[in-house]
Amino acid sequence: MSQLIKSSPKTNRFEGKTVVITGGAAGMGSVTSLQFAREGAVVVILDIQKKAGEEIVRLIEADGGKAMFIETDVSSAQQVDAAFDRITEEIGPYDVLFNHAGTITVKPLHETTEEDYDRLMDINVKSAFLVCRRAVKEMSDNGGGSIVITASIASELGYPLESLYCMTKGAVLQLSRSIAAEYRDSGIRCNAVCPGFVKTAHGLREIDELDNAGQAWEEGALAEAQGRICEPEEVAAAVLFLASDEASFISGNALYVDNGWYTKG
Ligand SMILES: NC(=O)c1ccc[n+]([C@@H]2O[C@H](COP(=O)([O-])OP(=O)(O)OC[C@H]3O[C@@H](n4cnc5c(N)ncnc54)[C@H](O)[C@@H]3O)[C@@H](O)[C@H]2O)c1
Repeated sequence: MSQLIKSSPKTNRFEGKTVVITGGAAGMGSVTSLQFAREGAVVVILDIQKKAGEEIVRLIEADGGKAMFIETDVSSAQQVDAAFDRITEEIGPYDVLFNHAGTITVKPLHETTEEDYDRLMDINVKSAFLVCRRAVKEMSDNGGGSIVITASIASELGYPLESLYCMTKGAVLQLSRSIAAEYRDSGIRCNAVCPGFVKTAHGLREIDELDNAGQAWEEGALAEAQGRICEPEEVAAAVLFLASDEASFISGNALYVDNGWYTKG
């Protein structure tokens, strides 16, 4: 992974900017963290995986960048507030929030328990509420900023065995649109990225669990839907674009990173 990042151009789109990333210790979040740092940002990673998060900080520093890891369960209001208090005290204002942390449950709706519901809503939806309510206030006070929220192809389309997941991803897409509408005049842009299947622990487990339940993603459905699996670097590139000043007049959008799957239906 760090090899791929090293081969990418080192630019300064985020020089002098601070970027806060939830779920930045692994998968797409870690690749995005590395790329933001490579383009000049100070990166702050909030994640439950301490060892992996510290390793990303080490890789960024080894590449000449600046980063900080704060062990945070983003579904906990107390931990989110403590993390943002620390960012404010130790780093100061931040310019970009990438709200990415999340997970999936693959199960028929009629077998889904209240505990499954509470857990997925907490990790995918409550976390975004907790993190974004801090960011919109603090960005507004500091003259603005840019927020990118990871939604999904499952935000607007429905999929068997993923009812609960689709509910959570629909909710965060709507949050991104609402923030764009409510905070435009505070100088905040907010957009969503909506990936198809991405080659991360999450995406590979999802394919495996769906196939074990009788679907056929590995046997051709994935190629039919999106051509091939998406690389995490391809999502990172979309996130950096939306977060950057290049997207200065783009807000309230859902950017599908899916090789045409959504439009094909
Ligand atoms: N991989 C895909 O195919 C795919 C497709 C569309 C959307 N997504 C979305 O991407 C995100 C998952 O990212 P990924 O694919 O890189 O998966 P991943 O499992 O590799 O990474 C998820 C990261 O989120 C962190 N995380 C999970 N729960 C957390 C919590 N409570 N507090 C803090 N951090 C937490 C994990 O530790 C990990 O670092 C989710 O929001 C998911 O809905 C993934």
